[in-house]
Amino acid sequence: MVDIVLEGVTKRFGAQVAVDHLDTRFASGEVTCLLGPSGCGKTTLMRMIAGLETPSEGRILIGGRDVAGLPPRARDVGMVFQYPVMYPTLSVAENIEEPLRHDRRLSADERARRVDEMLDVLDMRALRDALIDELNTGLRQKVAVGRAVARHAEVVLFDEPTTNIEVDSKLQLIRAIKSVTSRLRQTIVYVTHDQTEAMTLADSIALMEAGRIVQQDAPRALYAAPRTRFAGWFLGNPGMNYLPVACRDGRVEADILSAPIPLPAGVQAGALTLGVRPEWITVGAGRAEGVVTDRVIGIGGRRLLTVRHGGETLRIKCAAAEAPPPGAPVRFSVPPDRVVLFDPEGRALEHGAPS
Ligand SMILES: Nc1ncnc2c1ncn2[C@@H]1O[C@H](COP(=O)(O)OP(=O)(O)OP(=O)(O)O)[C@@H](O)[C@H]1O
Ligand SMILES: [Mg+2]
Repeated sequence: MVDIVLEGVTKRFGAQVAVDHLDTRFASGEVTCLLGPSGCGKTTLMRMIAGLETPSEGRILIGGRDVAGLPPRARDVGMVFQYPVMYPTLSVAENIEEPLRHDRRLSADERARRVDEMLDVLDMRALRDALIDELNTGLRQKVAVGRAVARHAEVVLFDEPTTNIEVDSKLQLIRAIKSVTSRLRQTIVYVTHDQTEAMTLADSIALMEAGRIVQQDAPRALYAAPRTRFAGWFLGNPGMNYLPVACRDGRVEADILSAPIPLPAGVQAGALTLGVRPEWITVGAGRAEGVVTDRVIGIGGRRLLTVRHGGETLRIKCAAAEAPPPGAPVRFSVPPDRVVLFDPEGRALEHGAPS
């Protein structure tokens, strides 16, 4: 098993910095999702790992080996991209077997065994002899996944493999990818800008912004404890609410807080911001009062409320039974141990237990 280490990796296209002095490690046998907005450098990073692009600066080590100068073929890296490249007139099984034929170490029996294994994990046995031309895009992409992982490459890179897939097949495809990755334990880097996908597949999420990884954490940790305002906003649907808060006598005060928060040691009482996820807020009681301006029905009968609160607009998620109608006043609060405090630069502060 191998890990991927990036040391000061930078990629410039002319004056444009696509990847900016990136230092990180993608753990062996894990699925790391690269998540971030369009243009933040995800594809460029993948192409450098694959050997399709040369870093302007820095080193990439795969399994401890510096891969500078190694062509893609020599890197033992499988790839699945947005548009699968396949042989339309060959069958599903033939397409999965094709890359294995280039490996002289594999006997015909071993190739057949690998193809069976893939058809099994992808739940595609019934389609063994179907031609690629006869399949929808979701099924084609499943075959592309089979092709990429059947070689048992140490590293497999996925770049938005579900982007062009219609919703129904998308779930099936994600399920297939999940079953492949948990069974084969290859080192996977999976690019997406879909946070639900990242939450479903990832052991670890590397959140990118403007060519940098701004936070790399287990999905739940990234969601519960974003280290920057950007991370709190990017994760979540909708993302975190941000409220300016006052600091008085060494405490952070806000009418939404059910108790004040002691100002963390060493922190200047300046313009701090409180970050609160919509589902952390409880409605029905509390010192804060607002007016419901909109109410959207969500999954599982939950409601997403839009609430005017002084000069701020807040999003609150609550149970259907607790949701006041539009136009109605609403009281709400959040316990101090559920919020995240950010400094004026948008970096999260550690804060102590509620006082
Ligand atoms: N070959 C290239 N020549 C010039 N600029 C490029 C090239 N490839 C990428 N870029 C630029 O580098 C930046 C990062 O692009 P990249 O494709 O890596 O982003 P991305 O995160 O994959 O975006 P998306 O989510 O849209 O796929 C962008 O500003 C892009 O315009
Ligand atoms: Mg991309």
